[in-house]
Amino acid sequence: MDLVTGGAGYIGSHFIKTYLNRFPESEIVAVDNLSQGHAGALSMSSRIHFEQEDIGNTEAMVEILRKYEIKTVIHFAANCYVGESQENPAKYFQNNCIHTLNLFKAMQICGVKQIVFSSTCATYGNPVYSPLDEQHPQNPINVYGSTKLMTEQALRAYSLAQGWSYVALRYFNAAGADESGLIGERHDPETHLIPLILQTALGKRKAVQIYGNDYDTPDGTCIRDYIHVNDLATAHIAAIKYLRENPGGEIFNLGSTRGSSVLDVINTCRKVTGRDIPVEYSARRPGDPPLLVANAEKAQRLLGWTTRYDLRQIVETAWQWEQHPQFPSGR
Ligand SMILES: NC(=O)c1ccc[n+]([C@@H]2O[C@H](COP(=O)([O-])OP(=O)(O)OC[C@H]3O[C@@H](n4cnc5c(N)ncnc54)[C@H](O)[C@@H]3O)[C@@H](O)[C@H]2O)c1
Repeated sequence: MDLVTGGAGYIGSHFIKTYLNRFPESEIVAVDNLSQGHAGALSMSSRIHFEQEDIGNTEAMVEILRKYEIKTVIHFAANCYVGESQENPAKYFQNNCIHTLNLFKAMQICGVKQIVFSSTCATYGNPVYSPLDEQHPQNPINVYGSTKLMTEQALRAYSLAQGWSYVALRYFNAAGADESGLIGERHDPETHLIPLILQTALGKRKAVQIYGNDYDTPDGTCIRDYIHVNDLATAHIAAIKYLRENPGGEIFNLGSTRGSSVLDVINTCRKVTGRDIPVEYSARRPGDPPLLVANAEKAQRLLGWTTRYDLRQIVETAWQWEQHPQFPSGR
């Protein structure tokens, strides 16, 4: 069986749903400490074996890896707020690096040598060219990005020293929700642009904050690459196949390769919702690069993967979810 860490979280739960649809005979193990995730995100199928546990608990993880005879770990569990990582670096190094190393220890004890890892475009730092390919220098400008880069380096070392096979996937901006309406994005606090805009459209927030409209971009606002969460999910399935057929380590960017400015996204949300969405302009945030867009040619070529959703579909699925969230509060 395969094991998903952070399975009750946003991307992990969408991966699990896609995985169970793709492999109708399969079962899967989800480990989550519910520090951020929602148990409700795992109630969609009886083929999910949920273990409420912390990945940092090596002994418990050894037991779980043995109990289910795990072959491959798909590792989503992490803390992932850039702002919080700057305020509380220890929390991020502890959870994203040390707890991950404790998980690696359990994997080594049990002889589990295959892993897919959720990395991020935040490992690149300020772009020196665009779009960003996997060769772009990695100089993270925040603690969160540093913790993910350190984990990539640990994986490379385990691969060389212990013969592990890994794929590290550097996501750009995950967004959207599953069309079923059963699962979607529910972060607490929410920091991602599309949920913030849609919650404003619903009147739950007063206005959308736009941090800087004087960047060197066509409309002055920051440009990002939004990728639908189910497109990320299908890339993970391709990555599992890839690492089983290609021992060693590989890294792929996952993005739509299309850049959308903050104003593009707000205007798309206005069209989809048919609602007025007030905005407020404030100063640039330190450490926000003007432009982050993926070159995902390598994933297309080696994983045989392409994206299915454009920005409008991302917003439409997110809007369906925001109006009827299945786990609106608490976890
Ligand atoms: N959301 C994005 O746009 C984005 C972009 C790039 C990379 N990522 C990465 O993707 C992964 C998933 O992100 P997400 O948006 O789904 O976040 P999320 O917070 O929704 O999911 C993470 C899950 O991991 C769990 N978790 C955290 N620490 C744990 C621990 N020590 N033991 C067990 N469970 C633990 C949380 O409870 C949560 O359910 C993260 O590694 C994140 O860094 C996300």
